[in-house]
Amino acid sequence: MAAPMTHRFLAACRREPVDRVPVWMMRQAGRYQPSYRAVRQKVSFLELCRSPELIAQVTVAPIDEFGFDAAILFSDILVHLPAMGLDLSFEKGEKGKGDGGPKIGNPVRTRADVDALRVPVPKKDLPYVLDGVRAIRAALADRVPLIGFVGGPFTVASYAVEGGSQGFTRLKTMLYAEPATAHALFEKLTQAAIVQIEEQVAAGAHAAQIFESWLGELAREDLEEFSFPYLARIAEAVRKTGVPSILFSTGTTAHLEPMAKLGYDVVSVDWRIPIDEARARLPGVAVQGNYDSTLLLGPRDVAVARAQQLLRAAGPTPGYIFNLGHGIQVGTPTENVKAVVDAVHAFGWK
Ligand code: CP3
Repeated sequence: MAAPMTHRFLAACRREPVDRVPVWMMRQAGRYQPSYRAVRQKVSFLELCRSPELIAQVTVAPIDEFGFDAAILFSDILVHLPAMGLDLSFEKGEKGKGDGGPKIGNPVRTRADVDALRVPVPKKDLPYVLDGVRAIRAALADRVPLIGFVGGPFTVASYAVEGGSQGFTRLKTMLYAEPATAHALFEKLTQAAIVQIEEQVAAGAHAAQIFESWLGELAREDLEEFSFPYLARIAEAVRKTGVPSILFSTGTTAHLEPMAKLGYDVVSVDWRIPIDEARARLPGVAVQGNYDSTLLLGPRDVAVARAQQLLRAAGPTPGYIFNLGHGIQVGTPTENVKAVVDAVHAFGWK
């Protein structure tokens, strides 16, 4: 288990009072940063994900540069797929190039394909991720907590079945045509998520975020049959490790009430709902997110004013973590990121 640590991010996850609203941003280590682009001139995206030293370097860089209240492990929700038997590449992800979308050469299409998938053994198959966690902890020296993460079963399945970022039609058709195959796939991906998060926490992660980014593609009855039971099992597994859990998704504001009951400490919301409404509809959990990442591209004064407006609307009740509705976009000026982080830290309700 992670060493006990008191910090405003972990306090907010537990809905305890904080001195300042904690702030971090999804994809805070990425191509909008000149320092990240310099690393990517030298190595491909997957080489970066497999180097503990580089993982630590790019994870810690945005903490030093912007003063975020949490670091997030630099990795990807698909890194374990080769160990499961899938041929993963990032198309334009070679040295120097950006925009490397994932591609799977042998996508999962049949029951036999699902049965052939192997649940990874993180210590053996993903040692660089766990060494990366330890290297980050050493480099951070407890300045801020470290968030570990895995992909949610539906989101990882969408890449595994479609073969890349190609929509959701094949996977959704599998739910309706071959529900037993879909359940077998989600079962394996749930087991894979649980073992990875357990090992990340054992290696030193202080919190666990589940990236179920594309959950908003599913109808309520499909969420109830094919997603919520698996997400609840992952939440329960994280709870047993003793660290707070965060459920991230987009396009799911129609489903906040059932999502509040899955067992997560924190539920992340996108920008499609007023924050006060989201907080009212998520009783008993902390809320993260809601800021539209596109604002960070715009005029700095507007980006700052909208951050302050969001904090006013979120209100002083403990249990709010400032974050984006989705990841920082390529082309975001670093000055805008700094200005918004500073504005969140300067904000007070009195
Ligand atoms: O948030 C962070 O700072 C931690 C690092 C992180 C990455 N990917 C780095 C990355 C995290 C948490 C992820 C999760 C992830 N990966 C998700 C869920 C979050 C989301 O954005 O919805 C998904 C769907 C993936 C799969 C994936 N990885 C895609 C679709 C792509 C290509 C699109 C893109 O943004 O380039 C990636 C590549 C990727 N993952 C990059 C980074 C920094 C860009 C790679 C590069 O350097 O060229």
